[in-house]
Amino acid sequence: MQPEVILNTNFPNLKLYAKGKVRDIYHVGDYLLLVSTDRISAFDVIMNQGIPYKGMVLTKISEFWFNFTKDIISNHFITTDVNKYPAECKEYAGVLNGRSMLIKKGKVVPIECIVRGYITGSGWKDYQKTGEISGIKLQAGLQESEKFPEPLFTPSTKAEIGEHDENISAEQAMQIVDKNTFNAVKEATINIYNKASDYALTKGIIIADTKFEFGKVNSDIILVDEVLTPDSSRFWPLDKYEKGRGQESFDKQFVRDYLISIKFNMQPPPPPLPDDIIGKTSEKYLDIYKKLTGESLV
Ligand SMILES: Nc1ncnc2c1ncn2[C@@H]1O[C@H](COP(=O)(O)OP(=O)(O)O)[C@@H](O)[C@H]1O
Ligand SMILES: [Mg+2]
Repeated sequence: MQPEVILNTNFPNLKLYAKGKVRDIYHVGDYLLLVSTDRISAFDVIMNQGIPYKGMVLTKISEFWFNFTKDIISNHFITTDVNKYPAECKEYAGVLNGRSMLIKKGKVVPIECIVRGYITGSGWKDYQKTGEISGIKLQAGLQESEKFPEPLFTPSTKAEIGEHDENISAEQAMQIVDKNTFNAVKEATINIYNKASDYALTKGIIIADTKFEFGKVNSDIILVDEVLTPDSSRFWPLDKYEKGRGQESFDKQFVRDYLISIKFNMQPPPPPLPDDIIGKTSEKYLDIYKKLTGESLV
């Protein structure tokens, strides 16, 4: 039987820390409890329906990558084992099981650390207009979806809910965070991307680009948030890859395409999603989890 789709959590005995587009975060002592709901946002608008298994897939994939990247940089992961959570969480175990993570609280570094291995999305648009991405001058004649000689670090601002992130240059980023922090998150971003994308290729997946967030605990910089999930990354099937055109992807493409097909104005309120779009999207999330980790949720 399919688990219940969770759109919102409400744990009266825990203090809410924040609600993001997808995650509800609670204080638990000195730690945080990061709960991935089944909410889905597209074009930065949160849909009214959830995607079955999505919160669990995001949690499991992040856990996998936290473990995989911990030799490059330490991270916020403590445990996903509800039995090891502090006592005040126990009464919510039914909802928390499989979709939550106890984490170290960090002071979030206020830039989104985007790394691009291939030219697509807003990078492709900017390149066509200006020959540059985030102030980085690129060679002429790149084709859509082409691999860069070296991955590019292209940070963006962190927008509030309902706003869009904006790409910024390294100089602009260094006005938001200090130079040492900038260099540290840049280096970690590139190193994690290189290691993870080599691994993903062996599983038939291209990581075209992705976004990381970092946090500070005392003066240490650690990896936080979600890591290399279909929500934070573009995953392409390697066997269908061909430069010179857009690629099929393992993410919310069905939802995005549907919204475009009905000419959604990309402003709330969102339209209802048809069942087959929800079902196919759920399958995509389950599929990428299985391809990446070899494990299966259902
Ligand atoms: N270890 C951490 N400490 C503090 N905040 C964190 C940590 N990990 C993630 N966060 C924050 O929790 C939120 C995650 O919820 P999410 O739904 O992804 O939000 P958003 O809509 O901002 O993407 C993000 O704002 C992220 O910056
Ligand atoms: Mg997020």
